[in-house]
Amino acid sequence: MLQTKTMKILVLGSGGREHAFAWKIAQSKLCDKLFVAPGNSGTAGIAENIPVNVLDFSTVKEIVLDNKIDMVVVGPEDPLVQGIHDFFLKDKDLSHIHVIGPQKAAAQLEGSKEFAKEFLYRHHIPTAAYQSFSRDEVEAGYKFLETLKPPYVLKADGLAAGKGVLILNDLNEAKEELRKMLVESKFGKASSKVVIEEFLDGIELSCFVLTDGKNYKILPTAKDYKRIGEGDTGLNTGGMGAVSPVPFADAEFLDKIEERIIKPTINGLIKDKLPYKGFIFIGLIKVGNDPKVIEYNVRMGDPETEVVLPRLKNDFVEVLQGIANETLDSINLEIDSRAATTIMMVSGGYPEAYEKGKEIKGLENITDSIPFHAGARLENDEVVTSGGRVVAMTSFGNTYEEALKKSYKSLEKVHFDKMYFRKDIGFDL
Ligand code: AMP
Ligand code: GLY
Repeated sequence: MLQTKTMKILVLGSGGREHAFAWKIAQSKLCDKLFVAPGNSGTAGIAENIPVNVLDFSTVKEIVLDNKIDMVVVGPEDPLVQGIHDFFLKDKDLSHIHVIGPQKAAAQLEGSKEFAKEFLYRHHIPTAAYQSFSRDEVEAGYKFLETLKPPYVLKADGLAAGKGVLILNDLNEAKEELRKMLVESKFGKASSKVVIEEFLDGIELSCFVLTDGKNYKILPTAKDYKRIGEGDTGLNTGGMGAVSPVPFADAEFLDKIEERIIKPTINGLIKDKLPYKGFIFIGLIKVGNDPKVIEYNVRMGDPETEVVLPRLKNDFVEVLQGIANETLDSINLEIDSRAATTIMMVSGGYPEAYEKGKEIKGLENITDSIPFHAGARLENDEVVTSGGRVVAMTSFGNTYEEALKKSYKSLEKVHFDKMYFRKDIGFDL
């Protein structure tokens, strides 16, 4: 039986992902009051924003108690990796409050690349061959690189804000970068260990799984576009656009993903006693006709959430209650058969230096798309830019091409100084 009690819900985070969470939760008959901390200009319109640093757990506790929150939905990885769920469980005032997101031990799947690789190997889940090296093993790292063919893949073990992966064509350059990571702490503490991996050649996609720790449900697939430049060139970003579903992931391929990757992942969490109630984001690469795992994230993707959640027809709070109460098996996910796309509008200069505080004009004229605010905030009742990724323009269509056309048309109505977006999202499909 599903609970029907209405709830007060707090979403932690401030990006497009959290606006999409809030947008979906706000539609639920089971939520009677919604808070987002710290939120952005988009969440301000549908929820109460509360300024807080999401890593300041004692202030989060005050907010939760002051507002009689029943459930906390954690958007970004940092608070999970730092143990916000464990913090709630250990505090007698908070232990009854539902937290959506894994406990610290399980969050290491994203917090440590070495931990993730060991998990993948232990549970025989297909992934790239690898070895990991610490500071006093630089020479051994060079030797391992010599046994590999280019390109060389170096990954800082810890969280490095999406910047910790280097892919290099030249052996000497790879050795030099390995030395910088290990010895000169190129990525700070995150690169005190480095995973060196076999390069996998293929097309990437992501799948999203909900789990209550026992049962799982699979959300629609999505593909994001990480590079800043058209044709997938230039620096890595948080994501410049996304498409769902992924057209090349047919039923047979999805079946392989479920059998070879999702089931052993859930069983692995149970076997290893890693407590997990939340979202698992599995980054995959299709090599030939087979899926292999590139990475785990212990949260939803951004901008993938902005195309995945709009396609979910269920009452989202009912689904979240299923996760919290370990009754996910009683829920049938209903997915909109239409395609959804999103295009990220970013500040000129991003992902390097960019200016903030630019007024965003024209959002009120959007009728055919859903503009999810990301790096945008309210200043004297005006919406201004406050980050690199500013707005994710989501649209539906019978095909992804039709949805993309709508997103691009809606973008024409919006403007801010030095606005940039990729004009080729979906080009490779
Ligand atoms: P990660 O942070 O592990 O997802 O890596 C960032 C990006 O690097 C991925 O999205 C891939 O594009 C690329 N990448 C990571 N590992 C590999 C690999 N073993 N082979 C090829 N590309 C990779
Ligand atoms: N869009 C990739 C991520 O959220 O990590």
